[in-house]
Amino acid sequence: MKSVAIFASGNGSNFESIIKYFENKDVKFTLITNNEDSYVRDRAKRLGIEEFYVKFSDTYDFLVRNKFDLFVLAGYMRILPEKVLNLGTFINIHPSFLPEFKGVDSIKRAYDSGKEYSGVSIHYVEEQVDSGEIIIQEKILIETDMTLIDLEKKVHEVEHYLYPRVIEKLLLNCEISKIQQEILS
Ligand code: GRF
Repeated sequence: MKSVAIFASGNGSNFESIIKYFENKDVKFTLITNNEDSYVRDRAKRLGIEEFYVKFSDTYDFLVRNKFDLFVLAGYMRILPEKVLNLGTFINIHPSFLPEFKGVDSIKRAYDSGKEYSGVSIHYVEEQVDSGEIIIQEKILIETDMTLIDLEKKVHEVEHYLYPRVIEKLLLNCEISKIQQEILS
């Protein structure tokens, strides 16, 4: 059985969408959080997922002791050092059409920019923030009558659709071009 570690620091709506998508599928998930009081921990307990509070500085030691096939960052608010990233394949989801609006508050910054679109990107992780090869990305039109809340809702909907499906394909060792073709078509 494949084993996936999900890293999250806060709310955990992506975490929950992944867990629900994989219900009755043969994959073991573990939550790792660097935030003792995060709401994602409550979600993990409710969903029956093993969860660990791991201080950021203890991450390397924890991952050396516990083996995973894939590392999924879903709202993990720290930058992992190269030493940790070298332990396996790390992916991240970002709420913009990268390379636009890297960093924090991306949805609001895209909305305020007057651009016609924002988006969602899923990419391999490198030490630089929101960098690394793009696995998939989808544009979201910012329509003239949309509020910021409407845009946030749409971005999260797209995230919750894309992320579990990308994880599933990566666990099957699919190539990026095939992942894009099968998920975006
Ligand atoms: C998502 O918008 C994700 O793209 C970004 O952090 C947010 C996490 O949201 N990296 P949630 O904790 O999954 O609700």
